[in-house]
Amino acid sequence: MKKKIALLLVAAMTVSSLVACGNAAEEAPATTTEETEAPAEEAPAEEEAPAEEAEAPAEEAPAADGELVSVGFAQVGHESDWRAANTKNYQDTFSAENGYELSFVDCDNDHAVQIETVRGFIEQELDYICIAPIQSAGWDTVLQEAQDAGIPVLIVDRAVDAADSLYTTALGCDMVAEGEAAGNWLAEYLDGKDANILVIEGSVGASATLGRTEGFNNIVAQNSNWKVLDSQSGDFTQAGGQEVMESFIKSYSDFNVVVCQNDNEAYGAMDAMDAAGITYGVDGDVTIISFDATHDGLQYTLDGKITCNVECNPLQAGFAEEVIKKLEAGETVDKWTLVKDEAFVAPGIESQYAVTMSQEVLDGRAY
Ligand code: AHR
Repeated sequence: MKKKIALLLVAAMTVSSLVACGNAAEEAPATTTEETEAPAEEAPAEEEAPAEEAEAPAEEAPAADGELVSVGFAQVGHESDWRAANTKNYQDTFSAENGYELSFVDCDNDHAVQIETVRGFIEQELDYICIAPIQSAGWDTVLQEAQDAGIPVLIVDRAVDAADSLYTTALGCDMVAEGEAAGNWLAEYLDGKDANILVIEGSVGASATLGRTEGFNNIVAQNSNWKVLDSQSGDFTQAGGQEVMESFIKSYSDFNVVVCQNDNEAYGAMDAMDAAGITYGVDGDVTIISFDATHDGLQYTLDGKITCNVECNPLQAGFAEEVIKKLEAGETVDKWTLVKDEAFVAPGIESQYAVTMSQEVLDGRAY
């Protein structure tokens, strides 16, 4: 059932329920309490009427557009610069000024916490639920629960394995295409030379990891003189990237390509190679490919340290808002919305697959 929250009441509440990492099963009800207690403080008739009745007039309240649409966002966590940009984009877009009450939960890369967070949103009868899935598997039951409760679910950024009849819409970048873009660029750059490749993957079971790995491997399979020496998870973090690279350096001495599945992992890998005296970049022994193309990642690309950086655009909240506006208007929505991205290469490199970096390109970045 649809639940709108009157602007008058929301003024007494936190605009966005920022719930820090931890046990969302405990945190989510706190958001519910905040929502239901605030009206009691405001409503004079509260003593004579049960809480539910006291809320009723508020729902009919005044302002022409005085009703906020409640949106729950079960975010992956705070593992990367990309994630920080994505979170800020959702918080800026789903603001009270724009007509929304955002319940934001950082699930700290914990699948169980994320499932319970979604259950909390269902219990709170929020109008819409956005889920950026930590892992692609294990969603059928809770998605069915949301559907039974009549709450539209938007799967954002990453994908789920579940049947698409279990959610309203999905939006995000094409991770397989990102992996293929990286591979195609490498084939063009190496121009027939051998490649001994080390891969630092993202978080285990995440569609971003699975897709980029699949896409890159599709191109590896087309190049008989390429060998993937090893492929390990760095969990999309700088510390993880450094740790995996340090262990690779102990085991392998003959690599000439390192693929990092996000920028933060690349920063960690560069730290590890610096410490080991291994040179990288356009003038070094090792070619680094990264994903995300965040501002700092592109600075390293402009500096020639990361040779190719495949974008994954974090500014996706506008697409989610567009879907919600259509649903509010009773319109049908597409099952899938592709968020487009592009690849960037270091100065001096020309590529049919990527934009050559310049200061101007960097200055034009919004994230
Ligand atoms: O799902 C998008 C990926 O997740 C980004 O590449 C990475 O930085 C993030 O943590």
